[in-house]
Amino acid sequence: MPDTMDDTTPALAQLLSAEELKAHWMPFTGNRQFKRDPRLMVAGRGAYYTTADGRRVFDGLSGLWTCGLGHGREEITAAVSKQMAELDYSPGFQYGHPLSFKLAHKVVQLTPPGLEHVFFTDSGSESIDTALKMARGYWRSKGKPGKAKFIGRVKGYHGVNYGGVGVGGIGFNRKLFGQSVDADHIPHTVLPENSFSRGMPDNGAHLANELEELVLLHDASNIAAVVVEPLSGTAGVLPPPKGYLNRLREICDKYDLLLIFDEVITGFGRMGSLTGAEEFGVTPDIMTMAKQITNGTQPLGAVVTRPMIYEAFIDQGGPDYMVEFPHGYTYSAHPVACAAGLAALDLLVKEELPQRVKALSGKFEAAVHSLKGSPFVTDIRNYGFAAGLSLEHYPGEPLRRPFELGVKCFEKGFYVRWGADTIQLAPPFITTEAEIDSLVNGVGEALHELARSIG
Ligand SMILES: Cc1ncc(COP(=O)(O)O)c(C=O)c1O
Repeated sequence: MPDTMDDTTPALAQLLSAEELKAHWMPFTGNRQFKRDPRLMVAGRGAYYTTADGRRVFDGLSGLWTCGLGHGREEITAAVSKQMAELDYSPGFQYGHPLSFKLAHKVVQLTPPGLEHVFFTDSGSESIDTALKMARGYWRSKGKPGKAKFIGRVKGYHGVNYGGVGVGGIGFNRKLFGQSVDADHIPHTVLPENSFSRGMPDNGAHLANELEELVLLHDASNIAAVVVEPLSGTAGVLPPPKGYLNRLREICDKYDLLLIFDEVITGFGRMGSLTGAEEFGVTPDIMTMAKQITNGTQPLGAVVTRPMIYEAFIDQGGPDYMVEFPHGYTYSAHPVACAAGLAALDLLVKEELPQRVKALSGKFEAAVHSLKGSPFVTDIRNYGFAAGLSLEHYPGEPLRRPFELGVKCFEKGFYVRWGADTIQLAPPFITTEAEIDSLVNGVGEALHELARSIG
């Protein structure tokens, strides 16, 4: 293998020097492999990227689960440009600007009844850490400071900040960083009897009872909250088993634990409803969101809570000039991000995109499950416009096959995500039936080519 891309791709070398490539320490990327053979996007329109070598690539993961409306939406560009020209930044501490209140109101309208207050962050990771602080602060304000432990779930992904890594359940993301928040974990919901399930698996509601076991072990007086994704995305698309989320809610109610849904992926459309909570019929006490709020165009996250949590902080706030929640980011509710959020959510509602996802989810499901029997495929799962394929491991190298398949797909004109031992598909909400077929055919061909290449 050559050492730098200059050796392989003269067109790319004109775009970036070897020194420039070296300077950027890329996130969640095999930096050595990438810098030998970069995959660079230079434009995006609708459901397609254009790569630096001039190829049109279908966006099979909506950016990073972010861009359901497709790329280059003029309404968002116009709103962002206008806001940049009018008010490019305004301080978020002790001062405000109208758009954040309008966006908060819009978010409340789009989340299930009972969730009424919105705290803005800049990302999913910040949203989770904000939610954890809210949960601990809530119990302190109620005179129960011992309620500080969190219960996450094995295979859960809650971003990369210290709290999120602690409640997260992905060993690879935890092992380098040592102790973070005090957390225990209920089991994941992958069961062999659910292999190749379509939509919500039939088996597995009983796994929620493991929460009760942890309550018996740690005692409810020590537990602040339970944190789960309604559907795990990063773990390879794990829809909740039927009845599972309801059971978690019942146990949280029984033992006075807060329930936090991490809806950074499921929030605003991908499940075929506005939120996972709406789709699965279970409302948490705190919901975290990010990605789809601005259609990925600006960094913005949100934490939406029940009034009891907001009011607990307000009631303990002391004199009214005092800060009730000593927390926030310089860029919380950034005016340009809020402008993007308002424009993106208007489009989502106006174009009825969650409804479109629901209408096409049967087509998507049938297409992805047609890959059963393709080389290396050991399981397929799906819900809404999200699907995960588990792939047979190379001995001792579970991450290698998905990487090889992802790169092969990219060469064939399809961007998909590889993560853990899975390939993940999450096309934009605007995807047509023909594009679903072409994406799935592309993945199928890539699997066969990979099988042929290793004999
Ligand atoms: C469920 C979930 N929570 C949190 C995050 C972290 O979000 P961010 O990368 O914006 O910090 C992600 C990102 O993929 C996610 O899927």
